[in-house]
Amino acid sequence: MTEKSGQSDPLYRELILDHYKNPRNFGTLKDAASEAEDSNPLCGDEIKIGIKVKDSKIADVKYVCSGCAISTAGASLLSEYAKGKRLDDVRRLDRKFILKMLGINPGPARIKCALLPLKALKLAIYSYLGLKFKGTLGNP
Ligand code: FES
Repeated sequence: MTEKSGQSDPLYRELILDHYKNPRNFGTLKDAASEAEDSNPLCGDEIKIGIKVKDSKIADVKYVCSGCAISTAGASLLSEYAKGKRLDDVRRLDRKFILKMLGINPGPARIKCALLPLKALKLAIYSYLGLKFKGTLGNP
């Protein structure tokens, strides 16, 4: 359980380190139905994410990124979560979901790290659906 900004309990720190060192679903999708890129303007770290879609669900998702432990672990955890989920459900995920998944309560400097993968995934989904992404993650 997080208490103060920027702190997390040891279990979640371990989870983040594990996914940072062994990111799941890392790579590039051949024949992706949609791809999107985003970066964290504060550090220049980047992510490119691709999805395959079947029956309005995410059939596969892969990403390549250069980022810190939080953004890489976030991409890894999010990719595991998103597989098999409905596009409409994933595009409605919010910052609360990501922070709970990561088990952190980051300060303003790190919140963009945590949200980077979700924003990229949403961009890919919105692009696939032909919709305009309006930045529903809110400002840090
Ligand atoms: Fe760049 Fe976290 S420091 S994404």
